[in-house]
Amino acid sequence: MRNESKTKCQTEKYKDKGIGQQSETIKTIQTIIEDIMKPKTGTLYGIGVGPGDPDLITLKAAKILNQVDVVFAAASTKNNHSLAVNIAKPHIPEHTAVQMLRFPMTRDKNETARAWCQHALTIVEEIEYGKNVAFLTLGDAMTYSTFGYIIKHVQKIAPHVEIQTVPGITSYQAAAARLNTPLVEGEESLMVVSGVKGGNRLRELAGKPENVVFLKAYRNVGDIKDAIDEMGTYPSSVGVKNCSHPDEEIIPDIQELSERIPDYWTLIIAKQNSKNGSSAE
Ligand SMILES: C[S@@+](CC[C@H](N)C(=O)[O-])C[C@H]1O[C@@H](n2cnc3c(N)ncnc32)[C@H](O)[C@@H]1O
Repeated sequence: MRNESKTKCQTEKYKDKGIGQQSETIKTIQTIIEDIMKPKTGTLYGIGVGPGDPDLITLKAAKILNQVDVVFAAASTKNNHSLAVNIAKPHIPEHTAVQMLRFPMTRDKNETARAWCQHALTIVEEIEYGKNVAFLTLGDAMTYSTFGYIIKHVQKIAPHVEIQTVPGITSYQAAAARLNTPLVEGEESLMVVSGVKGGNRLRELAGKPENVVFLKAYRNVGDIKDAIDEMGTYPSSVGVKNCSHPDEEIIPDIQELSERIPDYWTLIIAKQNSKNGSSAE
């Protein structure tokens, strides 16, 4: 009797275990099927495409552009043109979707913020479908770049999305290379400033750096030139327009540059030392 009940118990036990195992297996299969059915979330790549010459794109950026499903770039609402797309074109396969994200040409911060939010949603939508997407920016993706705004909004909307930034060659690195002039040497420092407020960033600074790069010089070249003259310590100042593009121009006299029609794609490198690195004073 004792043996009988033991055997019964064991049978029940194994029966239970069998059912348990079966349901475990079913659960595992269900999870696998769900995993297969569920689209994998894609990755967002921020790609710095470099200053202009398509050969100045990094190998990593070119590899990623060859693999992503969608390429995004910022464009104005007035046209469908993107310089970043033009630069990257030789590295984007024909079949890859290229989508412009239109931005209103306005100083209204709310309107611009709405546009960023909307565009971040568009990007996240593709990523949630399992697509890998690239967002192109000129020069380096982390230097005065629109990708900074995209990251902020994407992280707010979808914090789980994987983001990878691929650095690019900045406009001023390309300009220094074009001029065969070191940006910094020895104990020197370099300040990269926005020229949107003219030369004020330089005027306001207490300890003056040996080297200054003005990006976004655009309509403020005249005031930047005045600030450089006021300091009296930057004898080697050069303007570079459309660096590494076919219409590139080097303007060694920034007085002359200030008299020209303003061009957005203009930067100024101001140096206390002369071109060959020895003190000009
Ligand atoms: C919004 S910032 C973008 C900077 C860019 N992310 C970079 O890494 O160089 C735009 C400014 O960069 C400078 N810039 C960008 N590309 C340039 C180029 N190819 N030649 C000269 N200046 C350029 C201009 O001063 C322009 O106004």
